Amino acid sequence: MYLYGASGHGRVIKEILESLNQKVDGFIDDNPSVNEQLGLPVQHSAETVDEVIVTIGDNGMRKRVAEKLRCKFAKGIVHPKAVFSHTASIGEGSVVMAGAVVNAGTVIGNHSVINTCASVDHECQIGDYVHIAPGAHLCGLIQVGEGTLIGAGASVIPCVKIGRWCTIGAGAAVVSDVPDGATVVGVPGRIVWRTSVPNR
Ligand SMILES: CC(C)(COP(=O)(O)OP(=O)(O)OC[C@H]1O[C@@H](n2cnc3c(N)ncnc32)[C@H](O)[C@@H]1OP(=O)(O)O)[C@@H](O)C(=O)NCCC(=O)NCCS
Repeated sequence: MYLYGASGHGRVIKEILESLNQKVDGFIDDNPSVNEQLGLPVQHSAETVDEVIVTIGDNGMRKRVAEKLRCKFAKGIVHPKAVFSHTASIGEGSVVMAGAVVNAGTVIGNHSVINTCASVDHECQIGDYVHIAPGAHLCGLIQVGEGTLIGAGASVIPCVKIGRWCTIGAGAAVVSDVPDGATVVGVPGRIVWRTSVPNR
């Protein structure tokens, strides 16, 4: 198993894999000056590797890298000290970190991150390339579209639909639906700007 992205995010995922007794063979990184990370070799091409997790924190960059790779992605991984419902599911390349809770019937897409101590309650739909940052809390029946970042410590009330490639600011309280490309901050959350989002 190789980790694409020799950054802090990659270090955390390496330790999760080790706590699951899964061997990490090395890192891959585009930066030619990084040749070693945490005692593991860093290579600069994915051509010879069998299985990869893209360990880049930025959602857009994670998508760009995942789409250009031609290797197999690891099945979703869950830290042994996370709570993950047996009726929830997780897609390839996704990671659930320590202290996170994912409750009944929730579906997590591919290459997404449920970060430290975040919670995603029952029957949520989390798209691909999403990042639920540390300490963010999603109530039940919430939809989060592709590429969206839910910032650290943000909260989302039940049944809200958050679009694709949105940014929910740290500490925001999202109390109504959020359109694609919107940035929301504050309590209650307000849209402060919007960018256009390409079609799928
Ligand atoms: C919302 C956010 C994306 C804005 O980032 P930015 O575009 O760099 O914006 P700036 O820092 O220039 O701030 C612009 C204004 O928004 C305010 N602001 C920024 N973040 C805010 C937040 N989370 N809540 C309320 N106001 C916020 C700033 O105070 C500033 O106000 P001002 O114009 O009155 O001075 C960012 O601050 C944020 O919260 N990101 C989430 C980060 C995160 O949780 N990452 C997880 C990593 S694991």
